[in-house]
Amino acid sequence: MTAAEPLDAPERVRVTVPGKINLALMVGGRRADGYHELATLFQAVSLYDEVTATPAKDITCTVTGAVARQVGPMEQNLAYRAARLLRTELGVREGVHLSLTKRIPVAGGMAGGSADGAAALLACARLWDLRLAQEDLYDLAASLGADVPFALMGGCAVGLGRGERLTPALSRGTYHWVLAIANQGMSTPAVFARFDELNPGPVPAPVVPPALMMALAAGDPVRVGAALANDLWPAAYSLNPSLQTTLAAGRAAGAIGAIVSGSGPTVALLAPDAAAATDLAVELSTREVAHEVRVVTGPVPGATVLPG
Ligand code: C5P
Repeated sequence: MTAAEPLDAPERVRVTVPGKINLALMVGGRRADGYHELATLFQAVSLYDEVTATPAKDITCTVTGAVARQVGPMEQNLAYRAARLLRTELGVREGVHLSLTKRIPVAGGMAGGSADGAAALLACARLWDLRLAQEDLYDLAASLGADVPFALMGGCAVGLGRGERLTPALSRGTYHWVLAIANQGMSTPAVFARFDELNPGPVPAPVVPPALMMALAAGDPVRVGAALANDLWPAAYSLNPSLQTTLAAGRAAGAIGAIVSGSGPTVALLAPDAAAATDLAVELSTREVAHEVRVVTGPVPGATVLPG
């Protein structure tokens, strides 16, 4: 520790952070800033990255975990950028070493990079004893990326704008998902560009389907499964037709709902209960339609500081 650090600064802060799936992703027209107007319903699910922050002279970041080699250069990493943003915005002089354990697929449509950004914000704020107001933390999160505020919030929420204007959504019960994870990511800008090619005229303002909101509030997985919606599906499918095989295999194996998450390629398959989710995962793993199959539940809380 240096003399400049506050006396109660911890020596190490560990934060766990979930990935998300979009139960609805409704897309409007492209805005002047190049982004599309969205109306989305996020659910945080139990597939977690972990970020550990320890004091250091500069800002550095290392990545471990199964998908670590797919992660891009450190300077582009949202965890690294979160630490740098806090330093510049708040005049912090300390550095940090961020150690990331990655489990959320990279470029998989589950906002793994945003999750790491949210976790790093929380970890650095605690390590540097910044005592930020909740509102300021969310503003910093939104300036890092549209999906970062939801990774802080977790649970279930409607996201408007680019997805950063959040309102918690009423949700009853626990949903059991099987994730079919591909071994290669998809480019979000490429999927949105294909969306524009497929929708050359004016696009109506996006709205989360009321049937989905009601099904979620009622805690009815069958109705939730029937109401899942993703306007990016035709674009994602046209860039990666094998996604259709995964969806069809999931439905054939008993999924009560099947959707590509975000801009893909992760496919989320809804099961009626925990036992059915295990059966579905076993069945899917024998069909070789995904690189990896994971059973997860949602909603779960957002980025959380772990004890110790
Ligand atoms: O959010 P992110 O910066 O990762 O988005 C990458 C690109 O995806 C954007 O530059 C834009 O081309 C496209 N995009 C979009 N509308 C959104 C989100 C992303 O057009 N709401």
